[in-house]
Amino acid sequence: MKVLVVGGGGREHALVWKIAQSPRVTAVFAAPGNAGTAGLARNVPIAADDVDSLLAFAETEGVDLTVVGPEAPLVLGIVDRFRERGLRIFGPTAAAARLEGSKAFAKAAMDRFGVPTAAYREFTDPDEARAYIREQGAPIVVKADGLAAGKGVTVARTVEEALAAVDAMMVDRAFGEAGGRIVVEECLEGEEASFLAFCDGRTVLPMASSQDHKPVFDGDQGPNTGGMGAYSPAPVVSPELFDRIVDTVIRPVVDGLGREGTPYVGVLYAGLMIRGDEVKVLEFNCRFGDPECQPIVMRMKGDLVPVLEACVDGTLDRVDLEWDPRPAVCVVMASGGYPGAYEKGLEIRGLEDAAALDDVVVFHAGTRQEAGKVVTAGGRVLGVTALGSDIPSAIERAYRAVDRISWPGVHFRRDIGRKALRHLSS
Ligand code: AMP
Ligand code: GLY
Repeated sequence: MKVLVVGGGGREHALVWKIAQSPRVTAVFAAPGNAGTAGLARNVPIAADDVDSLLAFAETEGVDLTVVGPEAPLVLGIVDRFRERGLRIFGPTAAAARLEGSKAFAKAAMDRFGVPTAAYREFTDPDEARAYIREQGAPIVVKADGLAAGKGVTVARTVEEALAAVDAMMVDRAFGEAGGRIVVEECLEGEEASFLAFCDGRTVLPMASSQDHKPVFDGDQGPNTGGMGAYSPAPVVSPELFDRIVDTVIRPVVDGLGREGTPYVGVLYAGLMIRGDEVKVLEFNCRFGDPECQPIVMRMKGDLVPVLEACVDGTLDRVDLEWDPRPAVCVVMASGGYPGAYEKGLEIRGLEDAAALDDVVVFHAGTRQEAGKVVTAGGRVLGVTALGSDIPSAIERAYRAVDRISWPGVHFRRDIGRKALRHLSS
């Protein structure tokens, strides 16, 4: 069968890498892909949110299954469009993807389905939002309703900071239409974890737990990024919590949306805040996490393609997943300046040396090929991912690979996985 993977980040390289190993797959396409997917798939120069061109390509090439990486095409309705034409596609419809595309929709859904989350109010009038913030005091969290490329959330430590976020979102429209409506919510404390599950509209098949590292610098300092590293499993998600998350977060959402006539198909990703044995949902995403996908996919045993097909076909109850017991750690190597402005087109050295290490895969994100070389082409450039017999050895191996790779200005966190060690030693 022919499979098209939509997207060009580290998550999509990991998906292509896994899908290309399937004995059922004869060809893989990546749109637009990157220098990493180029070795395993045919890169097609179509942007991930150009739904018309993706549809035309899938029809012309006779693509049997399309797998959507990023949220933007899902929120735009790529799944609805493909299904109308009888094409098989993995991901939620636009109606179900509102769980990520509208924070107000997600909060209201959680209220309806009894899913634990921070107390909140929703506003379309900036004066009302300001009055509520003054009444509540800080810390407080201000969120643009719509998609804002991961930058639409301000965790405000002071009332002034929260008011400035309201102005930026609602008055200056820093995120365009996404800021016409905002959610103001209680600030939660604790440790974050990512929980992803395959869904076919009825059945839920949880993946191994994971944890992202959003702030740019060591010790969770500096501005938030798309994610500077991840590992799986996350020991903060104890086996008891794991089951409780399935029962009190994932299943109620899938059951509730199913009852309301918007069955959820694809990956449901819950961003969680965990304190002691209390779990609350920070947000939902309607897709695999990036970089969480990289360590998760490296630990996934067997063929991913039948799992994706079972989600599309509504037969997930017949599927099991097995996991490599070894943990995996992914360190993101980024361009100097990221998440702010950065230079592109810098030659990356040492890729082959790093990949020569056992149980290491260097997933590409913002890379492209230029005159036989691999050069930087984005903020997050690589996701160096390693398996190890335990978390410390996976960390050690990932950094051994990282230390073989260089380009001018490269930066990365040195403390990926350190939070996991705290749990292991306690
Ligand atoms: P998002 O862009 O929706 O992924 O949110 C970005 C980050 O903001 C989350 O990963 C958390 O670190 C933080 N965040 C979101 N909501 C809250 C909250 N209610 N309390 C504390 N931190 C939050
Ligand atoms: N790693 C966070 C995300 O994918 O949204």
